[in-house]
Amino acid sequence: MTERTLAIIKPDAVERHLAGKIIQRIEDEGFQIRAMRRSHLSAKQAEGFYAVHRERPFFGSLTTFMSSGPAIVLVLEAPDAIKKWRTLMGATDPAKADAGTMRKEFAQSIERNATHGSDAPDTAAYEIGYFFAGLDLL
Ligand code: CMP
Repeated sequence: MTERTLAIIKPDAVERHLAGKIIQRIEDEGFQIRAMRRSHLSAKQAEGFYAVHRERPFFGSLTTFMSSGPAIVLVLEAPDAIKKWRTLMGATDPAKADAGTMRKEFAQSIERNATHGSDAPDTAAYEIGYFFAGLDLL
């Protein structure tokens, strides 16, 4: 079934000029890019995006990092897009990521881990709606 997911090329990867390589890989793997935007989040906007993690010890550091510079936010579409993008990203911790995944190739640490992807249909709906309006996705 065709599905949509939210992907973020995080500030660490944008700063290191890796966005082009990551977007090329997204296209090579067969995703349709349905929407895309550069966005420099405020701390408050990053806290809203990651609200589900607000009790975690890394919440402050994560939201500070995510608001430290511009990110590139995309809506990706493909059959089984949520799982497909998470597989392509690899494990959250780059030390545990498989060879050939985005995080193995481009991440520097569990926090500066290059990319984000929604983890389930309900979070994908929330995250896509956080950045894009319905008319951006016609
Ligand atoms: P992401 O897929 O964007 O979802 C939540 C983020 O929190 C995750 O990627 C990591 O960047 C970050 N994160 C998860 N676990 C830890 C951790 N133990 N320490 C620091 N950051 C973490």
